[in-house]
Amino acid sequence: MDWGMKNRLSKIINPKDGHTVMLAVDHGYFMGPTTGLENLSEMIKPLLPYADVLMPTRGGLRNYVSPEIDIPICLRVSGGTSILNKDNLLHEGIIVSMEDAIRLNVSAVAFSILVGQPFERDTILSFTKIIDEANRYGIPVLAVTAVGRGLGKDAKYLSLASRMAAELGASIVKTYYCKDFDKVVETCPVPIVIAGGKKIPEREALQMAYNALQDGAIGVDMGRNIFQSSNPVGMIKAANAIVHKNATPDEAFEIFKNNK
Ligand code: 5RP
Repeated sequence: MDWGMKNRLSKIINPKDGHTVMLAVDHGYFMGPTTGLENLSEMIKPLLPYADVLMPTRGGLRNYVSPEIDIPICLRVSGGTSILNKDNLLHEGIIVSMEDAIRLNVSAVAFSILVGQPFERDTILSFTKIIDEANRYGIPVLAVTAVGRGLGKDAKYLSLASRMAAELGASIVKTYYCKDFDKVVETCPVPIVIAGGKKIPEREALQMAYNALQDGAIGVDMGRNIFQSSNPVGMIKAANAIVHKNATPDEAFEIFKNNK
């Protein structure tokens, strides 16, 4: 592996413990002004000290984030459909050139593939195009893996999508937590982080993060369960304690409550 790729990966995954807390704030690319991110700038300011990586869109980065910021960026580079287009949701293609990603000084790029839909081929071929371009410049690609509607969050399908992403060249995989998640991790040769998904009660979200880490995930790439929490700072501190300090769900929940 090239020095540049290794160096960027070491910014995304903390070399001290091999874990990472990624803060996902890319939702606007298909959800518009998502609850909690209406003023992205104000929301993320107090959260950044507890995140290892920020995952925005390029417009989010340019319009809401100071260039003096001291945090590695994993830039969302896939998109093309909105939340209103339910049948085509996640029928994504390339939305950012690698040239612009480099101009933005990113440490990684993120691309979504959807496995198990008639249009899966489109997302996968665009994904491999991004991998070839990113590899040319030593930029790691994080694959966001989702499966078609109706397949559910099931280890059988999430391991299929995650393994495919790794075999196609992803450096990191982001997928959903599910029952028997250890099987998803075991059969994926690259590190896995979990997505938070829709907002759920804080104690449950922390338990999910803990379970994922116990099953071998290297961290979280969470958005709504942090910025839509009643206490976003408490929530990211609690997630950070699970990921980097081995906190139990109860200990993490105490951190959440005590940071009101
Ligand atoms: C869509 C995404 C989201 O944009 C986002 O990153 C997910 O974060 P969360 O589910 O934790 O809110 O990945 O595929």
